[in-house]
Amino acid sequence: MHDLAALGGEKAVDGTFELPTWPQVGEQEISAVSDALEASESDISYLTSYAGGPATESFEEAFAETIGTEHAIATNGGGSALHIAIMAAGVKAGDEVIVSGYTWGQTVSCILQQNAIPVYADIDPETYTLDPESIKEEITSRTEAIVVVHLYGHPAEMDEIMQIAEEHEITVIEDCAQATGATYKGERVGSIGDIGCFSIGDGKQIIGGEGGVLLTDDRELFERACLYGLHPARSKQLIESSSFDQYIDSLIYTYRIHPLAAVIAKVQLQHLDEWNQQRRSNCEYLSEGLQTVPGVDSPTVRSSCEHVYHGYSPSFRPDETSGVDREVYVEALSAEGVPISTGYVKTPIYLRPVHRDRKYFFGRELPWSGRFVDRDIRYQRGDCPVTERRCDEHELNMGIGPNALGDQKPLFDQYLTAFRKVAANLDELASLSVDEMKNC
Ligand SMILES: Cc1ncc(COP(=O)(O)O)c(C=O)c1O
Repeated sequence: MHDLAALGGEKAVDGTFELPTWPQVGEQEISAVSDALEASESDISYLTSYAGGPATESFEEAFAETIGTEHAIATNGGGSALHIAIMAAGVKAGDEVIVSGYTWGQTVSCILQQNAIPVYADIDPETYTLDPESIKEEITSRTEAIVVVHLYGHPAEMDEIMQIAEEHEITVIEDCAQATGATYKGERVGSIGDIGCFSIGDGKQIIGGEGGVLLTDDRELFERACLYGLHPARSKQLIESSSFDQYIDSLIYTYRIHPLAAVIAKVQLQHLDEWNQQRRSNCEYLSEGLQTVPGVDSPTVRSSCEHVYHGYSPSFRPDETSGVDREVYVEALSAEGVPISTGYVKTPIYLRPVHRDRKYFFGRELPWSGRFVDRDIRYQRGDCPVTERRCDEHELNMGIGPNALGDQKPLFDQYLTAFRKVAANLDELASLSVDEMKNC
């Protein structure tokens, strides 16, 4: 019998061990929700946060304290937190916002929703987060903000980014949707930039089911974010500035959190560090094992950072795989039972049809044309070479993330056996296509 499962051999991952499902809610969350529902009989704020109330406010306070900021607004998603962050930062039609093309689309949607123009900087080849040198090259007099994403849970190079932003008086918004609890030089991400935006949606470090949080130390940014994201009844309680008073009631998105999501997430928040530690311990074990496997590099973790592994995205090494196609490599590992695919981002955001065809609003080429736009920004292959190489050649994505709880070492030993089996059979795999493998 052949050694490789793809060619008729036995699977390395035999089903004895399984990753836990995520998200999970336990007795604590269930009893907190049940208490909240009972309380809602006499206090409607347990069912709607339009005027705040204990469920929402205590979650906001706890979240801000955990991450280390003064102010918090709980929202109904990470995407809505990002949208009010961009508005609070004063980004307007025709303004330019620097962002990574190697991310989840919502890091960029918030810019487009403001009719502002995303300008793409390249990424660091090891951490896949914004490269400060590339940011510098993209700054113009129209640059109003930078949206920095801590993709997969690894922090971006915040010191350098903040220095550039300060020099040019640009607002920095951290997209921490995948990075709750991650640290950069001892500080939690989301407390370093001007505004931090988090998600507590289904696959995140802690969950409310759906939801998000906007954090800031800046009172003015906070009050502006209230104006856009909260019900006037709550804005009236929170906004102190008399100059903002007049705008309450003018532009309101229903972006507030459901109080029951806040109740669930507050319970989960108590476990954030313990769970992130388990994720780190499991993922670091896998990474250590992969160090001796040719053909693949484990995700880099900078010594200044604590990763929280929203995603585990290793790199395929074509120079070490004897000409094996990346798809074939992934197919061989999948046949062994390893949850792996060729990618998460797959296509840089700026090469997707919305950008290529200038069709975000399905007409008038907005936001790239119009009276507020003073240069013709188009996107093409070659704009961000590191991003494109990552997507085209190196990106791998494993089904490991917030679910890497408990002790997953026995399962990860089986994954490592699979990687080693594939590495030992590269010459044979080099002559196969994915279709041929599927027919084996
Ligand atoms: C990087 C990033 N930004 C923003 C979001 C949006 O968060 P939500 O789904 O809570 O709106 C996500 C969601 O997965 C994300 O991964």
